[in-house]
Amino acid sequence: MDIYKIMKNRRSTRSFSATAISDKILQRVLSAGTYAPSGANQKPYAYVMVKDPVLKEQIRTQCERVDQAHYQKSPEWFKDWMDSKHISLTKSFLTDAPCLVVIIGESNKPYWLESTWLSIAYILLAAEQESLVTLTYTPAEIDFLYDILSIPAGFKPVVILPIGYPKKP
Ligand SMILES: Cc1cc2nc3c(=O)[nH]c(=O)nc-3n(C[C@H](O)[C@H](O)[C@H](O)COP(=O)(O)O)c2cc1C
Repeated sequence: MDIYKIMKNRRSTRSFSATAISDKILQRVLSAGTYAPSGANQKPYAYVMVKDPVLKEQIRTQCERVDQAHYQKSPEWFKDWMDSKHISLTKSFLTDAPCLVVIIGESNKPYWLESTWLSIAYILLAAEQESLVTLTYTPAEIDFLYDILSIPAGFKPVVILPIGYPKKP
């Protein structure tokens, strides 16, 4: 598909079908993330694939906890925006999506955060090319992932990308 169409068509999705993604396709999408430029070509990130329903449930519970607390403290404009977009505090996409890709950055490397976000953008576009849908999900706090996923020291969790096929209406 034409790159401009891919960029224009991509939309965040919060409703996923349970249909699994083949390993081959997932591998292609994540490989695309590594094609992005990075500071001193360090590729300062890693992708943690979470498919285990128990881990997904644990992540969802923690995300709902921190996002609900954050919502209570948010300004009215943000609450109104969330309501207008029907963005719920119930994060069912975290257990519905067949795969969560947690992207962690190596925070002692130069330009680690910029490079990690570029890699994320490439993954979003590659997913669109594969007719997959994603959400760039950044819970209000994310450090609980260290325990749940045994993230090694030196890495910081940056984003959770649920990835899958859209739920049919
Ligand atoms: C840095 C970043 C953080 C985001 N965090 C969240 C989030 O925590 N929860 C959520 O539902 N959407 C999140 N989004 C998705 C945005 O709400 C979405 O990209 C925006 O509304 C535009 O919609 P589109 O992606 O369909 O073009 C985030 C997007 C970005 C780029």
